[in-house]
Amino acid sequence: MLDVYKIREDFPILGKKVNNTDLIYFDNAATSQTPNQVINVISNYYRENNSNIHRGLHSLSADATDKYENSRSIIKNHFGAAHEQEIIFTSGTTHGINIISSGLEKFISSKDELIVSEMEHHSNIVPWQMLCEKTGSKLKVIPINDDGTLNMEEYRLLLTPKVKFVFINHVSNTLGIVNPIKEIIDLAHKNNSKVLIDGAQGAAHFKINLQELDVDYYVASAHKLCGPTGVGFLYGKLDLLDSLPPYQGGGEMISTVSFKKTEYADLPHKFEAGTPNIAGVIGFGAAIDYMNSIGFDNIEAYEKQLLDYATENLKKIDNIKIYGDVDHKISVISFNIGNHHPSDIGSILDQYGIAVRTGQHCTQPIMDHFNIPGTVRASFSFYNTKSEIDLFIDAVKKASKMLG
Ligand code: ALA
Repeated sequence: MLDVYKIREDFPILGKKVNNTDLIYFDNAATSQTPNQVINVISNYYRENNSNIHRGLHSLSADATDKYENSRSIIKNHFGAAHEQEIIFTSGTTHGINIISSGLEKFISSKDELIVSEMEHHSNIVPWQMLCEKTGSKLKVIPINDDGTLNMEEYRLLLTPKVKFVFINHVSNTLGIVNPIKEIIDLAHKNNSKVLIDGAQGAAHFKINLQELDVDYYVASAHKLCGPTGVGFLYGKLDLLDSLPPYQGGGEMISTVSFKKTEYADLPHKFEAGTPNIAGVIGFGAAIDYMNSIGFDNIEAYEKQLLDYATENLKKIDNIKIYGDVDHKISVISFNIGNHHPSDIGSILDQYGIAVRTGQHCTQPIMDHFNIPGTVRASFSFYNTKSEIDLFIDAVKKASKMLG
């Protein structure tokens, strides 16, 4: 297992005081914290290496290009892609989804159907609604069961020959439930449908292999994986990405430009117009290296301990209701206490230095399903401790008492 107190020394923010008390950061599903190993790589880049990539012949530019491309190789290897050209750097998960939704306009018609689920983040719903508006295609929704899991029976029924695409999250950001994505992908492929997996929450908690999953597209963000904000990646199988039109026009995404005919660059540059977030991409690579130095097996096992400990103790609180309390989930707990508004609980927790997210978590359909205004969401990372959970449980009890 891992040495959590040693790991915490890597994260300067974890020593911070909030409201005159030690910060307890339980909002990791919104964004994870950044270790010195990543902060230093980013600041060193600006101190010693700042230069544009793929453009300059000079040494500084060549060095920056090498570092940027090295991150592509780290990400390709970590996620088990077959080719570096299949890894497109984006500004994050939402950007990756929009590249695909915009590219698919060419391939989708009013005869086609698309599938999402009731547990998606808005960023994996709205772009597909926009695609349906533009093409006249139909969006179908896999419902969730009352325990928060996907209704797989309904999924099978929805998978008709008209379905061209299935868009599902790997892990629900609100409930923490891990979806059976291999089964979802295999069923879709038998139906000749392609699959995009929103990996924003999944990629941070366990190691995955894109080739074994046989997924068509996978998107994720660096900032959930101890990396910087404003950077992520889109993975797509080579032939699929090749067939898609570019998302943005500009420099870097072309091979030749003339007023007669412009030719686009090959993958991956076709989708990376303009000067990218170079420092962010380099920091992303450093973040993956950092997490691998701790080990994803260790991270998964330790976070499971935190989840079980917190769940067991939260359940002892009167009138608590946990949403998505199932076996196969990551270290995220969404709950309410009686009729107390989640924001009231969250504000009181903040007074104790405890950061949680409250509200709908960009998943309004889940809230509608449970007929609630929102939840309090505590999400743990491998740098959190059981003592922090004890303080959190204590503060939740106090909050509930204060609210009457
Ligand atoms: N999608 C992020 C969350 O769940 C921001 O909080």
